[in-house]
Amino acid sequence: MGDTSLGITDALVSVLRDARSVAVLTGSGISAESGVPTFRDAQTGLWSRYEPQELATPEAFERDPALVWEWYEWRRRLVREARPNPGHLALARLERRVPSFTLATQNVDGLHRRAGSENVLELHGNIVRSKCSVEGFEAEPRAGDESVPPLCPNCGAFLRPDVVWFGEALPEDAFVSASAAARTCEVFLSVGTSSLVYPAAALPSEAARSGAVLVEINPDDTPLTPHVDYALRGRAGEVLPALVRALDVS
Ligand code: OAD
Repeated sequence: MGDTSLGITDALVSVLRDARSVAVLTGSGISAESGVPTFRDAQTGLWSRYEPQELATPEAFERDPALVWEWYEWRRRLVREARPNPGHLALARLERRVPSFTLATQNVDGLHRRAGSENVLELHGNIVRSKCSVEGFEAEPRAGDESVPPLCPNCGAFLRPDVVWFGEALPEDAFVSASAAARTCEVFLSVGTSSLVYPAAALPSEAARSGAVLVEINPDDTPLTPHVDYALRGRAGEVLPALVRALDVS
């Protein structure tokens, strides 16, 4: 039996249990319970305290590379201290049940892989990695480099975090694979995202156009909510484990 108090009905459990292909899009909300701040939540979101144009654009990095590097270093520390929560772990368990499973994430924190998820597409990069700001290749600072930002060991330009900034393109391979998964899945889960940032926010509509059942897991309404088949109101760390548990017992 599904947990109807969370909106997990028997119909939803049955659709998910029978699905041969599932695609998932996650956003910062799934990592909130691991202590990693979201972006747009009114009190706690990063963009309520910081200005994205001053920290998360190529122009900001050109203007003040040290400020941008230090801000990302602070976020890296938060991510290193964080642990995957029951929401991340439930998605890793779901992957093991479903023959074709794709997890596209807008998160740069690496927590899905640390929870055991395998087919993960990082649409906005990964904060733990760095890359050369000129050559674009992944690179790590040389030991003992005290420059801020550190310098590319190959060409001497500044290193930058390997994340997607506003105005930049998403990694093409990851986005093409995520779109393909959205167009071919039977069930699409949108978890912990405000559904405001494109092109990731277009993935659920692609899935719906191809006939997928759309499920949203979020404590609040988003622009996607009117279009979903099931809106599960609650925290990902509570709803996802209950959903996966319901598959086991039914
Ligand atoms: P947002 O901060 O825009 O949205 C977070 C969503 O998570 C909101 O809809 C919350 O209601 C929801 N939420 C909060 N706590 C939750 C919980 N415990 N369980 C489930 N949901 C919860 O974050 P994103 O949608 O990830 O991009 O933002 C998308 C992109 O905008 C980010 O990748 C980042 C940001 O600017 C770049 O930096 C390029």
